[in-house]
Parts: sequence; C-alpha cells; structure tokens
Amino acid sequence: MSRTAVMCGIGGWVPPTLVTNADLAARLDTSDEWITTRTGIRQRYVVPPGMSTSDLAVEAGRAALKSADLDSADAVIVATTTPDRTCPATAPTVASRLGLAGVAAFDVAAVCTGFLYALATGAGLVSTGQADRVLVIGADAFSTILDPGDRSTVSVFGDGAGAVVLRPGEATEPGALAGFCLGSDGSLADLITVRAGGSEQRSAGAASPGDEFFSMQGREVFEHAVSKMAVAARTAAERAGWRLDEVDRFVAHQANVRILRAVADQLDLDHSRLVVDLDRVGNTAAASIPLALDHANADGTLRPGDRVVAAAFGGGATWGATTFVWPRLRSI
Ligand code: COA
Repeated sequence: MSRTAVMCGIGGWVPPTLVTNADLAARLDTSDEWITTRTGIRQRYVVPPGMSTSDLAVEAGRAALKSADLDSADAVIVATTTPDRTCPATAPTVASRLGLAGVAAFDVAAVCTGFLYALATGAGLVSTGQADRVLVIGADAFSTILDPGDRSTVSVFGDGAGAVVLRPGEATEPGALAGFCLGSDGSLADLITVRAGGSEQRSAGAASPGDEFFSMQGREVFEHAVSKMAVAARTAAERAGWRLDEVDRFVAHQANVRILRAVADQLDLDHSRLVVDLDRVGNTAAASIPLALDHANADGTLRPGDRVVAAAFGGGATWGATTFVWPRLRSI
C-alpha cells in the first residue's frame, strides 16, 4: 500500500474584534440589508492594532496540534497573502513560536486558493517520506490591506486562521487526501490585486494613490469563481471515482453565499449539502476552507464518514479542488 497523507488534527481561530454589518453601515454608504442579501455575510472579525497574521496562525496551529494529540511537527506551511512582512516568510516565525524552531517552514501564496495549494504541498511532503507530521495553516489578516473606505471589500473580508495536521497513512482511511485538481490563469492577475509594494512597483518608482490597498473587480471575479470552482470540483470528484450525488458535503471557499449556491446549482447539488460559515466570519481568504471545516466539525454539520469535496478560487487567478472522507477529529 503506498504512503498517503491523512488529516489527523484540525484547528481554527478568529481575532477578538467583532465587526457587524451595522457597524459598517454606521461609517460607510452601505446597509445590513445590502450586505446580507448580496453576500450572506452578517459579521466578521478583524485584528486589533498590533495583531498580525502570525498571531492568527499560531493560535490555529496550536489548536490543530492539540486536536492531533501532538506537541510537534516536522514541517510548517503557512498559506497567506498578508504575511507579517514582505520578507521573510511568516511560517518560520509561526514554527518558532509554536516551539518548533529548526523544522522546515515556508509560505505558500495563492490568495484564496492558498490553503488547497498548501495542503497539496504538505501531502506531497508526507507521501514522499520527506516529513511525517506536517502542520498546514491558512491565515490571513485582510483587514490590514483593505481600503477602509471601500464598501465592496470591507463588507466581504474578515480575518482568521485555520489549520490541519497531516500524518502518513493509507489511501483507504478516512482523512486520506485522494488527489488535487489545481489551476491558474495569470492573464487574470488584475482582477484581484495589490498593485504597490512589490518589485514591479518598486522598480518602476512612484505608485498611484490607493495602489497600496487590495482591489477586486467583484462582478468578474464572481463569474470566474463560479465556473472555475464548478469545473475543479467536478474533476476532483471524477478522479476520486465519486458521482456528484454521492457527495455529502461541499466545502467551497466562503466568498459569497450566492457564489456557493451558483456552484452547487452547476453541480446539481442540493443547497443543504453546502457548508456555510461566511455568515459568521466573512471571507477569510486562505483561512476560509480550514476554518469552515473546523466550524462544521465542531457543530456536527460534518460527520465522520461524510464524503467531502472542497473547492476554492482566488487571486492569480488560481483555483483548485480536492476530495476526502471526513475523519473523526476533535475540534478544540
Ligand atoms: N453596500 C452597498 N453597495 C455596494 C456594496 C456594499 N457593501 N458593495 C458594492 N456595492 C455597490 C457597487 O458599488 C455597485 O454600485 P454601482 O453600480 O453604483 O457601481 C453595485 O453595488 C453593484 O456592484 P457589484 O460589484 O456588481 O455587486 P455584486 O452584487 O457583484 O456584489 C461583491 C459585490 C463584491 C459582494 C460580489 O461581486 C462578490 O462577492 N464578488 C466575488 C468575491 C469573490 O469571489 N472573491 C473570491 C476571491 S477572494
């Protein structure tokens, strides 16, 4: 039997500052009614001053290790678009703060698809025997890169982190990662971007006002998110040998409930199979899928033995999907 990566721990964490739709409506030209009906989001959490992505990642990582009954791992991967600093990567800091100094630690950048890319990378480390225990974390503090006056992004994004632990096992076990369907199209890079701060802008010189902020062309992103996640999910299910009507839970990147429903419609999946926590936490970018898994595991929406398809779309553009049978895991 070949060596396969198996999920054996789960954790999630959101920062303490709650921002409701009413809070946003008090300072921006928006309303609870608009945000709720157009996105499904009712509230999100943001980092207080002084807290950054590594703080979120450490808390989620600690919870995932505890869930796995482990106090160490031999690799730490952090998927993030909001690293503590442009240089170095955030993962070594996270590893060190978890008492894991000396282990392999690096970041993966694929925006809202980042967790699936990191999970595929971690699964590769385990299946090739490079590592026995891998902590894979998705963590983002998008509130630190948003234009506070941009109602279309401030109302959508929240901060948070989610994590899983991988161990070696067999392909037939619950929690085994069956395979990944990952893709990208760099010609769509301008749809989701922060123009300033990178080598392109620094080399060219001055930036235009506002270029330091995250920008998103919402309507176009919406359409690509639906079509790319549907195709990736269908491909991943086919590779696993599952018919779509055999899928118990669909865990898609929590961008907008209208996107989730549209993807489900394309896949002929009943909306009751959607895992949804964006109403409570908004779009937490790389944290979105592991946080949704942790919340669904904790509240019983996800049960051991459930057949799960997970799919994401993000800046790049990037997209991906994977399948697994949900294992028995303890949420902390
Ligand atoms: N409150 C009130 N009006 C808002 C608003 C808000 N919070 N956000 C946007 N609007 C306005 C826009 O300014 C626009 O006004 P205009 O027509 O006068 O210019 C109008 O609503 C329609 O904008 P549009 O972008 O077409 O709205 P939408 O229904 O597509 O919803 C998003 C906007 C951002 C919620 C939606 O496009 C979305 O979810 N996009 C995908 C996000 C995503 O998938 N991200 C994944 C990768 S991170």
